[in-house]
Amino acid sequence: MKKIEDISMSNRTQLASWQALEQSAAKMKQTHLKTLFAQDDTRFSQFSTQVPGVLFDYSKQLIDNDVFANLMSLAKECDIASWRDKMFSGEKINITEDRSVLHTALRNRAHTPLIVDGKNVTQAVDNELAKIKVFVEKVRSGKWLGYTGKAVKDVVSIGVGGSNLGPQMATEALKALADDTLNVHYVSNADGVQISSILKAIDPETTLFVISSKTFTTSETMTNAKTAVDWFLQTTKDESTIAKHFVAVSTNLEKTAAFGISDENVFTMWDWVGGRFSLWSAIGLPIALYLGYDAFEAILEGAFEIDEHFKSAPFEQNIPLIMALLSVWNTSFLGYTAQAILPYDQALHMLPAYLQQGEMESNGKHVNFAGETVPYTTVPIIWGMTGINGQHAFYQCLHQGNVIVPADFIASVKPQVNVDKHHDILLSNFFAQTEAMMSGVDAAQVTADLTAKGKSQAEIDELLNHKIHQGNRPTTSMLLDTVDAKTVGRLIALYEHKIFCQGIILEICSFDQWGVELGKGLASKIESELTDDSVKHAHDSSTNGLMAYYKQNRTQ
Ligand code: F6P
Repeated sequence: MKKIEDISMSNRTQLASWQALEQSAAKMKQTHLKTLFAQDDTRFSQFSTQVPGVLFDYSKQLIDNDVFANLMSLAKECDIASWRDKMFSGEKINITEDRSVLHTALRNRAHTPLIVDGKNVTQAVDNELAKIKVFVEKVRSGKWLGYTGKAVKDVVSIGVGGSNLGPQMATEALKALADDTLNVHYVSNADGVQISSILKAIDPETTLFVISSKTFTTSETMTNAKTAVDWFLQTTKDESTIAKHFVAVSTNLEKTAAFGISDENVFTMWDWVGGRFSLWSAIGLPIALYLGYDAFEAILEGAFEIDEHFKSAPFEQNIPLIMALLSVWNTSFLGYTAQAILPYDQALHMLPAYLQQGEMESNGKHVNFAGETVPYTTVPIIWGMTGINGQHAFYQCLHQGNVIVPADFIASVKPQVNVDKHHDILLSNFFAQTEAMMSGVDAAQVTADLTAKGKSQAEIDELLNHKIHQGNRPTTSMLLDTVDAKTVGRLIALYEHKIFCQGIILEICSFDQWGVELGKGLASKIESELTDDSVKHAHDSSTNGLMAYYKQNRTQ
């Protein structure tokens, strides 16, 4: 592990910019966005910026010029630029695991050599991409034949967390653009219902299983993988047929071999690829199989564009940095400890779930690089769903609740599929909701509205406070050109760099995930107790009571 004194980090709350922002927070909480817009009709031009394919409007965030200037100072005082350079150059900034953080190397479309620990990372990535390309084209063209000589029709991806969410989110995002060469299915849950429903729908002769696990030790994935192999062998009764129907994506060749997958059927990744940042690696194989290699490459190109933007754009126009600063401002200064992701595009319906891992597994920490407990809220709770559906689920709370939830609204100018007036209707909601959340509706407006409806003064008095919307809910609006492969790459890379910047600003290590170990370890102990009565571990009375009830009532 890197020696802490080598990490030049100062205590964030002592920074001049941090203290200035604390002052500003008190002031801004007494300020209404409606007033700020009324006082300055240039807010949109001041607080919006563009990169190819993305308009980023943050003018409905609760900031003014002073706040923005202090956020920029905070980025400079946190030395974002040199930490960014450390990341891109392969320095081991994942300090607790002593690893580089190089998901950017997976999409380095300039192919510039990058030497880390004496190895050319770029060459290794290009070699793996070439292997993926050959394999994908073989499968999609029908040249890869199953044990009875038939081409593949169904791909079943088995993986969880970063070995599932990225591929599945991208597949869902682009399925409207896919051809019908292959069907792809995703198994991630240990609940047998999921894999059994998929196994019912596929034919072993024409199915290819992709077992994705960076460690190849994740219990849920190994359970599903074994069920898949058992199901397959029930039909073929011949282990040699596995080679034609099972491939793996992992760093752990020893475990993949032990599972029965030959090395030539293993697509590798590296320990400097974090699971939640891995869709650009061979973990993205299901995406390439489903959409074709060219589409997968377009995703890489979109992300590369954003890498270049992140590296070169001045801080004032640097979208991922601004996204991070706004999240820190809302969470750690204004005290809004949740953030909603509200796509107004059905293709992005899995984006909230994807970002839950990306953001909360990265920055859901309570100690800084030096291991000291930090005094501020770090990551906001990330949640959301497609905006239209949210309007009929939780927007009541967003508009009139007393918990303010900053939200990212994301829509596309051009739909993937044009159906009559649908897109104008969708976009009218996208525009209306952020305006409503910003401006609200005050007593005078409610009174005028009820008066116009002929309500008596008594009726108005009774209803008035129930109908007031305070507004002043901060939102960001992103308008994408259209949700195509390149834009998916751009969008995910924007959030990845946002997460990175947030971690540096908050002085936390965004790239380890020690918080998942305890639950995993306990689950493994309890599993042995559930499967073998002679095994006993000490638990609290609740856990003991629950386990006893389950053991008494489960199907024997
Ligand atoms: O959630 C913990 C975690 O380690 C994630 O970081 C990772 O994406 C997931 O489990 C799956 O890990 P693996 O790819 O090693 O199976």
